[in-house]
Amino acid sequence: MSAPEHSTGSELDPANGFENPGLGEHRPRKADIDDKADKKAERQTAALFGISIVGTIIALVAYFTLNDADPGDIAQIRQVNMWIGIGIFLAMIGIGLGAIHWAKTLMRDHEMVEDRHELRSSDEAREGAIQNLKDGVEDSGLGGPKRRSVLKGSLITALAVAPLAVLVPQIGNMGSDWNISKFRHTLWGPGVRLARDPDGALIKAADVTIGSVFHVIPDGLNDLDHHHLISEKAKAVVLLVRLDPADLKVQEGREDWSFDGIVAYSKICTHVGCPVALYEQQTHHLLCPCHQSTFDVSDGCKVVFGPAKRPLPQLPIAVDDEGYIVAQADFDEPIGPSYWDRLKGGDDTTAEEVSH
Ligand code: FES
Repeated sequence: MSAPEHSTGSELDPANGFENPGLGEHRPRKADIDDKADKKAERQTAALFGISIVGTIIALVAYFTLNDADPGDIAQIRQVNMWIGIGIFLAMIGIGLGAIHWAKTLMRDHEMVEDRHELRSSDEAREGAIQNLKDGVEDSGLGGPKRRSVLKGSLITALAVAPLAVLVPQIGNMGSDWNISKFRHTLWGPGVRLARDPDGALIKAADVTIGSVFHVIPDGLNDLDHHHLISEKAKAVVLLVRLDPADLKVQEGREDWSFDGIVAYSKICTHVGCPVALYEQQTHHLLCPCHQSTFDVSDGCKVVFGPAKRPLPQLPIAVDDEGYIVAQADFDEPIGPSYWDRLKGGDDTTAEEVSH
């Protein structure tokens, strides 16, 4: 690579037969000829790297605030998540803009020409490449006569701390006490009445007409304190549907889990846990809005389409002496997605059940 000669007029390229317009006259930038402008550009670049450092600090502080946040306080969690996002954004954009500004204003500004050559570079070219690298370091200002110590320091610090905004949350989560057994048990149990979500009104079998759908919570859920209400509701929500008993394919071993065509299934999608709530009365299909997994309510809520791999867990129900619909027991398997460690931590689901 060599510095080109600047042409003032057209030249005929003998190889290609067209006129080579040549390079225009080189025009130095302000920072090339004015020491004040050079210093200003350096300060601006350092400030951008400084923004990156501040962004990293914001992300880390927000992350540690999140650890102390009340899990039931959704508004606070949203706000903290927003600050984590803002912090990471500033950390990344600061480095990016700083590097661009540095290249445009401070790195040496001269055109280079590289002639076409064989695919394998000659030994001289290879040595030249190494020399170019060295020149690049010098051009960048890191190895030149000017020390630019503030710039160097801010860049190195920004590069060193920026990964923390991403790594620290990952490392922090590795030690969390995540355990599938938390999903093994819900508020459902023998005799717990089914109530409407959200008002908690109890549901009689006579109220459920064919084709109707009820969003259901366990009776008593609304009496819990806010924190427990949120976490228990997230596990226990159920969809209650009544089909014509003639349309219902009763699953083997579940002959007494439904009542006169009334069936209840977990609303938590077995893909990644969105609430499944779109019921199509004609086809008896239940659709998850997140990634379109579709479950057949008339056939054990088996997956008929989409990325989910397991049917929705069924809640065994019956009707008590007063005509109210009650649960016979808790779900017989963990609700929600099929995590890889589904068999750990007190989960007694069999491997065969998981694979279905
Ligand atoms: S969460 Fe239901 S399909 Fe993905």
